[in-house]
Amino acid sequence: MMRTTFACRQFTDELVPDDVIYRILDCARFAPSGGNRQGQHVIVVRDPQVRAGLADLCRPTMAVYMAQVQRGESPWNTIVPSTVDVDAASRRAIDSPFLDSFADLPVLLVVALDLAFVASFDRYQNRVGVISGASVYPFVQNILLAARNEGYGGVITTFLAGKEPQAQELLGLPPHLAVAAMVPLGRPVRQLTKLRRRRVEQFTTIDRYDGPPLHRPKS
Ligand SMILES: Cc1cc2nc3c(=O)[nH]c(=O)nc-3n(C[C@H](O)[C@H](O)[C@H](O)COP(=O)(O)O)c2cc1C
Repeated sequence: MMRTTFACRQFTDELVPDDVIYRILDCARFAPSGGNRQGQHVIVVRDPQVRAGLADLCRPTMAVYMAQVQRGESPWNTIVPSTVDVDAASRRAIDSPFLDSFADLPVLLVVALDLAFVASFDRYQNRVGVISGASVYPFVQNILLAARNEGYGGVITTFLAGKEPQAQELLGLPPHLAVAAMVPLGRPVRQLTKLRRRRVEQFTTIDRYDGPPLHRPKS
């Protein structure tokens, strides 16, 4: 299951019944979260105008992403300075069939995280926060796995966070509810089975970062 749960962005017109959506969330809720605080809130966005509005909020963020990728940069990273004029790039119109499809998606979920419930252990570190997200992304990945289990697919997206205040206003979210992900779901047009991922040896070392890689034991 984990090897074939790909990022699905194209869906058939088939509707996803409410009982399926409910079942998917009913499985996903068993995800772990820091201190089991379960700070997630899910909004099932049905209104096509709101969906289109959410898609439009993603466009400037996506435009910057595309400009940075085009320059060979790792987009939106906080370590290596970008050579892209972010303001200018964010104003450029982009062609995105995926965002254009938002109003017609079978299902669109927004997953928010109530920061009043999250232990952000890295809050005093001098870098971008990563720990808070760990209290919601296991839940979000569980949504994809549960959907896959039912023959559906989806994708974790985060580009809405680039315009979080506007998204919060559109969805009636209070400011302390972070927009963690937007997840379209539906029946995949095609099922991918071979995902491109680094091998264990490429990201696992023994004892230290510069230690020897962990290899598959010979049997
Ligand atoms: C934390 C996270 C954020 C992501 N944000 C976006 C996004 O904003 N837009 C998008 O189209 N895909 C987004 N993705 C999907 C990734 O591009 C996708 O998971 C990755 O390319 C692997 O795709 P594959 O499983 O089909 O190989 C995100 C995935 C993760 C896990």
